[in-house]
Amino acid sequence: MNKLCWICLAVPVMFSCSQPVTGSGETALSQHNDTAVAKHIEAGNDYHSFSNPDEITVTHLDLALTADFEQKQLKGRATLDIVRQQAGADTLVLDTRDLNINSVTVNGQSVDYSLGASDANLGTPLSISLPANAKQVTVNYHTSPEASGVQWLTPAQTAGKQHPFLFTQAQAIHARSFIPLQDSPQVRITYDANIKTPANLLAVMSASNNPHTERDGDYSFSMPQPIPSYLIALAIGDLQFQAMGDRTGVYAEPALLKAAAAEFEDTESMLELTEEKYGPYRWDRYDLLILPPSFPFGGMENPRLSFITPTVIAGDKSLVSLIAHELAHSWSGNTVTNATWRDLWLNEGFTTYLTYRIMEMLYGPDRYNMEAVLGYQSLQSDIDALPEADQKLAIDLRGRNADEVFSDIPYEKGALMLREIEQKIGREAFDKFLLNYFEHFAFESITTDVFLTYLDKTLLKDYPEKLSRARIEQWIFQPGLPEGAPEPQSDAFSDIDEVRQRWLTDKRDANEIDTTLWTTHEWLYFLNNLPDSLPAQKLEELDNAFSLTQSQNNEIAHSWLMIAVKNEYKPAYDRLYKYLVNIGRNKLVKPLYRELAKTPQGKKLATKAFNEAKAGYHPLTIKANEGFIND
Ligand code: BES
Ligand code: ZN
Repeated sequence: MNKLCWICLAVPVMFSCSQPVTGSGETALSQHNDTAVAKHIEAGNDYHSFSNPDEITVTHLDLALTADFEQKQLKGRATLDIVRQQAGADTLVLDTRDLNINSVTVNGQSVDYSLGASDANLGTPLSISLPANAKQVTVNYHTSPEASGVQWLTPAQTAGKQHPFLFTQAQAIHARSFIPLQDSPQVRITYDANIKTPANLLAVMSASNNPHTERDGDYSFSMPQPIPSYLIALAIGDLQFQAMGDRTGVYAEPALLKAAAAEFEDTESMLELTEEKYGPYRWDRYDLLILPPSFPFGGMENPRLSFITPTVIAGDKSLVSLIAHELAHSWSGNTVTNATWRDLWLNEGFTTYLTYRIMEMLYGPDRYNMEAVLGYQSLQSDIDALPEADQKLAIDLRGRNADEVFSDIPYEKGALMLREIEQKIGREAFDKFLLNYFEHFAFESITTDVFLTYLDKTLLKDYPEKLSRARIEQWIFQPGLPEGAPEPQSDAFSDIDEVRQRWLTDKRDANEIDTTLWTTHEWLYFLNNLPDSLPAQKLEELDNAFSLTQSQNNEIAHSWLMIAVKNEYKPAYDRLYKYLVNIGRNKLVKPLYRELAKTPQGKKLATKAFNEAKAGYHPLTIKANEGFIND
């Protein structure tokens, strides 16, 4: 996209401005007057979109698609409402990836269009010539069976084994693989959709869902709040609904429904607690959709309907911080959105901070402390592993694949910076700041610079003796952690350190360790902090005492299998193989593949598992792991 003014995009066209943005946010903002300045987004080139919203902006999408499970294609049309930002603008540029465009029409008449050169990261620009006064553009198209943002599952890949399943995953830049649009988080649109499916399946979207809709294969949706394209989502399957509270419920395949509703029964309380602290929930209902295990993420905050991996249904609510996280995005991410992928930390750092606060409110400080220590340790290992450039909160993604730079930096480092501000000015003052921040920027997409300018006018002005801009800039623009950054502590974990040490130095046998009161968190802390190299006999002892190889908790199993791979502990390899074949969640499988790839034997096993699993893996999981196997 061009480097043109973004500040005025959301004000009526007659007030809009086309001044080029020069330099920092400060300069750009000072070129604009009063309230428009405060209310509207700043420059921030989106290097991950071909689109030209600074000339012509899409404001609404009307989608009509039929899901063809035989052909693995979504077929239909997208009608886009457009607003010209520049009087003479006559070419609308949309993002696409592997889409088959059949025709483009304006007022029922075909218009000229062309597909430009494809880029491996960005896809293919679709340029459409617009007649003067065109207000709506319709693109007739179908998707490719390999669409990067869609996974088509056979019945065998579902829990019920009877019906096929489809789900989309648009973040970061995969919406363009199933809808031609301006695929940039700085463009916000409302949408309506009609989805046709086989009659016995239910379609759900990141929009208004009627849990009691007639199952007839014809479903309509509307999303009245303006959202960025990466939050458009669709799933189709043999889904049923169970309410968890007045505003919350869960969609899942019948076999998982009860367990999911029980596991996540605290969702309504989470919603209420978050509202009390951070202002109204602006999205009407909040439901969860439980996906098949190939879902490549833990969760995805699609508005009104978070998409959730089934791997967190542990039976004891020990992994529900993931729900708190996706719910928290309803404030940080969905209400206030990162304007470009460089600003992802505004979404994920604020959300991680909020998640910790929700967990603390609901389950108390011990649980919060344990989760914060685990998060901090995970951050430390990313800092150790990543090049300095990737340790910055505001990361330079030019020319890079937005999926590849996924790390704990935007999450845990972002949250830690907010924790530091909280500690310096006090919790009450910081909560008030957050409440105002969500209100001030509601339904806007903002850059890191806009955030900093807002901070100048609020906390940096009000607490000059406690906070400094230099310190904040160090957090955002420098690698690593600033000296004196907060360091989470957990008393519960001190005991675990002691127990681990005793066992390692043979002062205590594994079956003498009293783990009756250990939760998942103690286990993770115990396992994650074992030395990399352990004798087989020690591993056997631990496994015999606690059946770790058979752990049904997917996070504990992950930590244990990492140890098994590092030490070539063969009794765990059957489980390892099954784990890799059955789970597609990248955070769980990628570290295992990476570790296996370090030895020829490991690579052989990885290759076998990968090849067996590949047909069931999501395109993102395939891409993330194919480099670890033999060709
Ligand atoms: N929005 C993210 C997932 C995402 C981020 C997808 C960037 C594509 C690009 C989601 O909210 C998330 O953070 N998921 C985590 C959950 C965890 C941190 C609790 C995941 O999937 O592991
Ligand atoms: Zn997130």
